[in-house]
Amino acid sequence: MTGLLRLGVNIDHVATIRNARGGDHPDPVRAAEIVTAAGGDGITAHLREDRRHIRDSDLQRIQAATDLPLNLEMAASEEMLAIALAHRPHAACIVPERREERTTEGGLDAAGLHNQLQPIVTRLLDADIRVSLFVEPEARQIEAAMRLGAPVVELHTGAYAHATGEARARELARIADAAALAVKNGIEPHAGHGLTFDNVQPVAAIPQLAELNIGHYLVGEAIFIGLDAAIRRMRTLMDAAR
Ligand code: PXP
Repeated sequence: MTGLLRLGVNIDHVATIRNARGGDHPDPVRAAEIVTAAGGDGITAHLREDRRHIRDSDLQRIQAATDLPLNLEMAASEEMLAIALAHRPHAACIVPERREERTTEGGLDAAGLHNQLQPIVTRLLDADIRVSLFVEPEARQIEAAMRLGAPVVELHTGAYAHATGEARARELARIADAAALAVKNGIEPHAGHGLTFDNVQPVAAIPQLAELNIGHYLVGEAIFIGLDAAIRRMRTLMDAAR
């Protein structure tokens, strides 16, 4: 049976535009309110080590402005762990982070970083924060998530989004296989990165997926059709694919 597919909206890039002028407009909190009104299921925000978009004070304001669950994307560092424990988001998605990258370019090596990740995963889970690991759609990463006791994996869809033709079909199959393996092992699979109106439907049709997190395209499209309309259109496309 194909269940509900939640849409988490990543509002980081509203803050990117705000920060370009150093003021307080456009405010990501207003975006969070629009996500709520448009029927989004969650707010996703990445507090990066360099604070290039979301800032510490945004988290608290976002949490105060909406009842939607906050999915905090964070590096596996003591600094970010302390912030997560202070803000108690619904979920924390652990992502790899390099300062020089433009966005999260690949999945977390959950297999190779087991010892670094274990104490962070454990402390987040002890605080009742749902831990998700942003990983490549590979069996070894799902197995590593199992060993770490993570209840959720978010499958990186970047390679799928950037591929064409047969390569895209192969990438889609990897996502479907990883989602099936996750569910078989009691892990809830999510997916995200690089999803657009044009490429979302084959991913949304993967029955095991429970959530998609989408940001850059929706914020870009908001310039042309508005954030509310962009979210509603994405939701419609996702629902039609299920
Ligand atoms: N999921 C995770 C873990 C991310 O880091 C990001 C942003 O890089 C997204 C989803 C959303 O990706 P995009 O902005 O390309 O839609």
